[in-house]
Amino acid sequence: MSTSSRKRTDPLPRKPPNVVAIYPGSFDPITNGHLDLIQRGSRMFDTLIVSILRHDTKEPLFSVEERIAMLLEVVHVYPNVEVDSFGGLLVDHATAHSATVLLRGIRAISDYEYELQMALMNRRLRPDIETVFMMANEAYSFISSRLVKEVFGLGGSISGLVPPSVEVRMRQRLSRSILKGA
Ligand SMILES: Nc1ncnc2c1ncn2[C@@H]1O[C@H](COP(=O)(O)OP(=O)(O)OP(=O)(O)O)[C@@H](O)[C@H]1O
Ligand SMILES: [Mg+2]
Repeated sequence: MSTSSRKRTDPLPRKPPNVVAIYPGSFDPITNGHLDLIQRGSRMFDTLIVSILRHDTKEPLFSVEERIAMLLEVVHVYPNVEVDSFGGLLVDHATAHSATVLLRGIRAISDYEYELQMALMNRRLRPDIETVFMMANEAYSFISSRLVKEVFGLGGSISGLVPPSVEVRMRQRLSRSILKGA
């Protein structure tokens, strides 16, 4: 079921006793910017589910299973943070987990337009699910997975941009592709 039977003018339900939030993204790979949002989100919601979008339009470096493993390596220190993946509509995934919040980050004005469009579409599909935006930590606001991969691929240091365990996996991936002659 992809749309709510609720009319947008109906009163919204009250706050549930346990607030579940979904933090969706590609996480290819997880960066310290993502991790900062996860840490802050874990203090706001009873449960935070970091959900990897399957069938992303972007060509991934790591498989969904590898990304789940990389996320689990870093979020296990937060007892109320879970890791999952989803295909199809985000609001359907949220509803399946009884989530009432979608968590997203804003780094710069360039993020705003896309994020606004997505938030309004998701509200139209499910008025009872709220998108909550967090401003990026100023120390990490320039970091994206794409830029991390680009810099790393060109031989630049990504230390401090991603968790150490991710850096190790990136190095392994690079040496494997060099061995294969890719
Ligand atoms: N450094 C960061 N600080 C705060 N929020 C971030 C940061 N990086 C990504 N986000 C937010 O996390 C969510 C998921 O983003 P996404 O998976 O596209 O990450 P990304 O780093 O932008 O990856 P890509 O470069 O592949 O697009 C989005 O809401 C995005 O704005
Ligand atoms: Mg992005």
